[in-house]
Amino acid sequence: MEILNGFEPSSIEKAVELLRRGDVVAFPTETVYGLGADAFNPYAIAKIFEIKKRPRFDPLIVHIGEKDWIFNIAGHIPPEAERLIDRFWPGPLTIILHKKDIIPDIVTAGLPTVGIRMPSHPVALELIKNLNNPVAAPSANPFGYMSPTKAGHVANMFRGKLELILDGGSSAFGIESTIISIQDGKIYIHRHGAICMEELAGTGEVIQEREKHGPCEAPGELPYHYAPHRPLKIVSSPAEIETSTSSFLGFKTPERNPIAKYVRILSQKGDMREAATNFFSYLIELDREDVDIIYVEKIPEIGLGKAMMERLKKASKKSRYITR
Ligand code: TXA
Ligand code: MG
Repeated sequence: MEILNGFEPSSIEKAVELLRRGDVVAFPTETVYGLGADAFNPYAIAKIFEIKKRPRFDPLIVHIGEKDWIFNIAGHIPPEAERLIDRFWPGPLTIILHKKDIIPDIVTAGLPTVGIRMPSHPVALELIKNLNNPVAAPSANPFGYMSPTKAGHVANMFRGKLELILDGGSSAFGIESTIISIQDGKIYIHRHGAICMEELAGTGEVIQEREKHGPCEAPGELPYHYAPHRPLKIVSSPAEIETSTSSFLGFKTPERNPIAKYVRILSQKGDMREAATNFFSYLIELDREDVDIIYVEKIPEIGLGKAMMERLKKASKKSRYITR
């Protein structure tokens, strides 16, 4: 396995060669790292599912290199989508649209729709533009685990299973893209992410949380996604920590030192953007320590806090599934 500097043209060349051959390459985006393959090559896509141990019913996001590539892969594009694309692309907004036949069914897990985004990370864009095909990519973590925000995370998670990781530094947002769909002129949020609800509402569009009835459509919506290996408990303050053989992830600097053995603070001043950047990276670090439990301080559910809490709630549910 090679880790190459993604800003070097020779690294992009090598990655493109692998993608053309139908291989999988890990690459940086502004949200988290992705495991990419040529979106038009179903055999290459199948490799992603194998490497990730991801169920085949979980659709992938298709990453494009230019805004107008969307006309090649999506059917009807409602005016709301066009406005959001103008405002947020390139960037961390995934839009679910009707797919054209050119997108293989394995990409969308048989759904008639496809999630599309144009990333803003320069390395991701170079890679996709040089391939000159869209790149389907899930986050570069084993299924159900937390998303990597550094090349080193990916290397640890997939040692020996990947030929090439493009290193593009730490992901600027540190949390996955926001996923939306559009129906009858309304924007429905499927997954809270790097573009917060307030920002979406600021566009003047009608924004709604998607109500979840019955079985979920995709595992990103499973109640126990994004989890560390160790049990995780959400607490209101470090005073609730019950054992010192634990880790503590705080939102901002606590008044007193927590009794936990390992402590990380997302943002000394409680800045949401800084907290999101450190979020997965600190959780992955704490998950490596030999402790019984990871305590995480509740994050105010405003702005990016909503996306972080969505992931924490799912992770704490998984702990319950394991211990049951
Ligand atoms: O920031 C991100 O979105 C990262 C980077 C690499 O772009 N990617 C990412 O992909 O988080 P992934 O596969 O880990 O999560 C994508 C989620 C799926 O779990 C699924 O829930 C949802 O997107 N999704 C994709 N296509 C969909 C569709 N057609 N309908 C409903 N949900 C869809
Ligand atoms: Mg993921």
